[in-house]
Parts: sequence; C-alpha cells; structure tokens
Amino acid sequence: MRNVNAQTITEAVLARQSNTADPRLKRIMTSLVKHLHEFAREVELTEEEWFGAIEFMTRCGNITDDKRQEFILLSDVLGLSMLIVAQNNDKPAGCTEATVFGPFHVEGAPHYELGADIANGARGTPCEVRGTVRGSGGEPVAGAQIDVWQSDADGLYDVQHPAVDHAQARGILNADSEGRYHFRSILAVPYSIPHDGPVGDLLKATGQRPWRPAHLHFLITAPGFETLVTHVFRSDDPYLDSDAVFGVRQSLIADWKQQPDGSYLVEYDFVLNPSA
Ligand code: BEZ
Ligand code: FE
Repeated sequence: MRNVNAQTITEAVLARQSNTADPRLKRIMTSLVKHLHEFAREVELTEEEWFGAIEFMTRCGNITDDKRQEFILLSDVLGLSMLIVAQNNDKPAGCTEATVFGPFHVEGAPHYELGADIANGARGTPCEVRGTVRGSGGEPVAGAQIDVWQSDADGLYDVQHPAVDHAQARGILNADSEGRYHFRSILAVPYSIPHDGPVGDLLKATGQRPWRPAHLHFLITAPGFETLVTHVFRSDDPYLDSDAVFGVRQSLIADWKQQPDGSYLVEYDFVLNPSA
C-alpha cells in the first residue's frame, strides 16, 4: 500500500499483520494498533511529543537493572498493574482480595519458625503479626506457605539499602496444623515509591505524589488453592485514599493496635480461593 494518510495507516498496518499465526497475539496486536493510532490522532500528537515519549521510555530502560524495574513502576502509577490485578483476580465473596505485587519481592527469602523475628536487624518499632489462613469453607489451611516482606522505619526495603547485604524484614513461614500463623517484625510505615527517575518526573509533571500507605506484603500459597498476592494496610494511615499505585482495598485494612510496652499488634485472617 502506498500514499497512506493519517486515517488509512491503521488499515495498512492491520493488513500487514494479518498473517499472525497465533490467534491471541493477533487479537492483542490488532487492538493495540487500533488504540495506539486512535490515541495519536485524538491528541494530535506532534513529532516533538512523539520523540519525548521515546526519550522517556529510553530513560526507563536505562535506569532499570536487577534491583529496579522502572517499567513496572510506570505500569503501577498509570493504574495498569491494578487494572490487570482486578480483572484477573475475581474471587468469590469472602475470599481475601488481591492487590499489586510491587517490585520488592525477593525469591528465596529466609525460612523462619512461627513466632520468629523476621526483622533480622531492620530498624523499626517492634510489631507482632498474627492470624489464620483458611479456605472459603472456613477450613484451616494447614501448612500454608506465607511469604511476607515490608519496608523499614526509613520506608526502605532491604534491597534498597546500599549498606544491607542480607534479608531484613522479609521471610517465609508455614501456618500450623490449625492454619494459624504469627511472627514478629517491625511497624510498617508509609513510604514513597522510587521517584528519582523518569516515573518520578511524570508524577511531578502530573501533580501526583509518590506516597504509598503503610502495608505488609503477603504471597500465600497452598496446594489446592489459588496463590494470593496481597497487602495488609494500616487503618490509621493518611495515604489510604491517595496510594500512588491504586492498591488499597477496604477489605485489606486492619487496625494495628499499640500495646502497653509501645510495640504493635496486627491480626489478619486470610481466606484462600480453592483452585479450579
Ligand atoms: C510496593 O508496595 O512495594 C510497591 C508497589 C508498587 C510500586 C512500588 C512499590
Ligand atoms: Fe510495598
């Protein structure tokens, strides 16, 4: 095809892709091209703006390494990560809701006995976490594997601390035969997502703030149940309604109660969805 214009270019590209063998890929690419072209026409994208976007993506690539994933961060602040979580984790009422995974999970965190202190030297106010893991029929999920991770009093995960070379405030535990779990750690505090790169510039330019409300991350697995990726948030957090990555769900908010000795206690019961 020759002499394409701003309208006919879309059909030309779709025709060029028409031999895509994989039907799923064909559906995705067709829709992507249609929406991308429509977006450029709708905003009357200029050549300077198009090149600005290329430079922005290049900066995202350049700042990404094994400790930092700027593209996921971009997806998070655009609400795409939460959209994908929401449309792929429709669970029956009563099951614990899922939320974003985030970039700070580490494969192979240390295993701990129930009751252990997973802070492992991380700075923060002591906090005990306890609860149960049950199936949607109320049955205890004996031995459920609980992978938990959180930031410290400075709002940093261990992997973000240049001086920390071992796991802190993260660990893996197994629920007991009654599905109960408990461990000691530190109080979760609000923190800002990394905002010293292109995503931070985007937040600033669009009048947004980088704060996430205080939370613990959980990845819970057990045979016969869907994997649950979720958080537990603090009910007294000022950022619950302005989470930079749109991850807050009312059902994931718990009261973190201060104890007479100044430490905190939070209790949260998880309900897993049986796998299909
Ligand atoms: C987190 O909660 O660890 C997180 C989630 C999304 C972006 C950055 C951090
Ligand atoms: Fe987090």
